[in-house]
This record gives sequence, structure tokens and C-alpha cells, in this order.
Amino acid sequence: METKIVAIDPCNSEFFENEIKNAAEIIKAGGLVAFPTETVYGLGGDGTDPKAAKKIFAAKGRPSDNPLILHICDPSEAEKYTYTSDVYYKLSERFMPGPLTVVMKAKSIVPAETRGGLDIVAVRCPSNPIARRLIALSDRPIAAPSANLSGSPSPTDALHVIDDMKGRIDMIIDGGECDIGLESTIVKIEDDNSLTLLRPGRITVDELACVAPVSIADAVTGMLREGEVALSPGMKYRHYAPKAPVVLLDGGRDEIIRYISEKGTSKVAILCYSDDEAFFKRVLPEAELYIFGKRDNINEQARHLFSVLREADKHSYDMIYAPLPSKEGVGLALYNRMIRAAAHTIINLRQGRNG
Ligand code: TXA
Ligand code: MG
Repeated sequence: METKIVAIDPCNSEFFENEIKNAAEIIKAGGLVAFPTETVYGLGGDGTDPKAAKKIFAAKGRPSDNPLILHICDPSEAEKYTYTSDVYYKLSERFMPGPLTVVMKAKSIVPAETRGGLDIVAVRCPSNPIARRLIALSDRPIAAPSANLSGSPSPTDALHVIDDMKGRIDMIIDGGECDIGLESTIVKIEDDNSLTLLRPGRITVDELACVAPVSIADAVTGMLREGEVALSPGMKYRHYAPKAPVVLLDGGRDEIIRYISEKGTSKVAILCYSDDEAFFKRVLPEAELYIFGKRDNINEQARHLFSVLREADKHSYDMIYAPLPSKEGVGLALYNRMIRAAAHTIINLRQGRNG
């Protein structure tokens, strides 16, 4: 299949009305369009069309029991697809449009294919102007997972989408680099109106807790135990996995350097804070460094994590080392993605034992 690639400046998207209209026509006709959001790129199709959902699963190579998020352009549109509540409207007033996805009981209009056979469905109202205009002109909810091949890091730049999806979908809208770089925060509204955090993101637990009590699903920070049912089907699949094994190092800069130099640095990549770059270069001259942000700037690290993992993946490293992030605030989102990329391999250098 030939994939059209169209560049649109997100800051001047009103000048690209025709291009976005063409993309919307593709969605209406049952085709697939990858588009930028403020979190990561999405792979969009008509959320009311079971055939479009099947095409999305096929293009990504994704198991069809892993449901899709419905993207809407006004929070009130959730009424059509879900049974909303006061808590939903409190969340939407505070966080929408923006990087929050809310899971609620689905109405029967949502095809079973879109919700992966579950009786609940996820909705999200993105803030990216291209995404918003595309949804509006499509005149239907857009079902969109991240626009990567299943198992590889989510795309935060159109070049990543081109690498994974060229030839598999109808159109890719290039709207530049995504601002946040990690996927949205996902919460489920429970029957008692409390929230369960299914996936951490830019919107933090503390922010959510201002609206309703929040509990954190075990799989957010740990591994699913054998036989345990995943609250969100996405939790049970290996995610964000680069080809080389990733090892997370829990320790300060000097402990990390000592550990890596003992293990050897040939064919090794290190994810490193920009503050430490000069020092690492001096003491570990053979290792290849991938800088993903300043030590104190978690948002900058989040923005670059997936692109750095993709870049490292182009080389055949024997090992990728990265510092273990803190679980505070947005750090929890970074921690959640990094433990998945590392298949939970964390070396505790603080106490000198494997954690
Ligand atoms: O930021 C984002 O959320 C991006 C952009 C494109 O909007 N989308 C995204 O979609 O990350 P995806 O499909 O890659 O990840 C959505 C996660 C999956 O792990 C899926 O299992 C979970 O949300 N999910 C979707 N619908 C659900 C539902 N009804 N119940 C529980 N979990 C659900
Ligand atoms: Mg995904």
C-alpha cells in the first residue's frame, strides 16, 4: 500500500485545512491515518467501524483483545459512547483537552472490536490542534493506539511512524515532535466513584487525587503475577522493548560508573543525564552515551526517552544501561515505561545486590 506523508505545522494548523480534510475523508472511508497528539503519535481509524479496528490491529501486529482508546474533540461527546458520571465531568473540567484517558462502562454503540470485547471503553480528548481538527472533520470518534509496531517504543516523531508504518497505512501526518513524549495517564472510574490508575503519565496521582480517591494498579510498578487478571489488557504484553537488553541501575553517578566499568564498556550504550555527559565521557570513553535530559527535568527526560531507545536500537549493542528514575510525580510514568523496557531488570547498587 502507498502511504501518503503530509507535513503540517501544528502552530499554524488552520492553514492546512485541506490536508486535514483529506485525512478525515480517509478515516470516514474506513482507512487509517497516523496523526500527532501531545503525548505520542496515534494510529487512527473510525471508532464506530469494526473493520477499521481490525485494520488497526493488523497494521500494528497487535493482539485484538487489547482495546483501543476513542479520541473525541469535546469531553461531552463521551456521553454517546459511555455511561459518564460527575467524577468524569470533574476530571474533564480539570484535565481536558489534555493527556488523560478515562475508562468507563461502554454503551453498545461502541463495536466490541474497538473495546477488545470488554464492557468498558477508554475515551480521551487530546489537546494537539491537528488531532482535534482531524476528529472534528471526521465527525466520529477516532480509535487510536500509539502508531508503533506492537512491542516497539511509542513514536514521538513522524520519522518513528514512517519507520514502523510506511506501506501499512493510508496516510501519515507529520506534525513534528510530540511535546510530552509518553502516552496519556489512564484512569478507570470505579462503581464507588474512586479512580484506579491503570497507566501513569504527565497527569500525576497527586493531581488526580484532587478529584477523587486514587488507587494504583499493582502492574503500574510491578509485574503481573502468574494467573493474575490484567485490569488493562495492555499491562500483560511486553512493551517498549528495545532489541538489546536494558538494565536499570539504582544508584548515584559514581556507583553507576563503578558498576559499568567493572562489567566492561564495549558494545554498551548508556542513557545518561546531560549534567553527567562530560564526566561519563572522561571516565568511560568507549561507551556510547545517549543523553535524554537534565537530571532534575523529568519532563525533558520523558520527552526524549522513546526516541533515545529507538536510536539505540539501530545499533547492535550487547547492553543498554539507564539510571532508575524516581517514582515521584511524573517520575512514576518514566519508571513505569523504563521497567517495561528493561523487562524489570533492576540492579540495586545502593545495597550492592540485585533488586
Ligand atoms: O497517549 C495516548 O494514550 C496514546 C495517544 C495516541 O492517544 N494512545 C495510546 O494507545 O497509548 P495504546 O492503545 O497504545 O495504549 C492504550 C492502553 C492499552 O494498554 C490498552 O490496554 C488500555 O489503554 N486500554 C484501552 N482501552 C481500555 C479499556 N476499555 N479498559 C482497560 N484498558 C484499556
Ligand atoms: Mg501503545
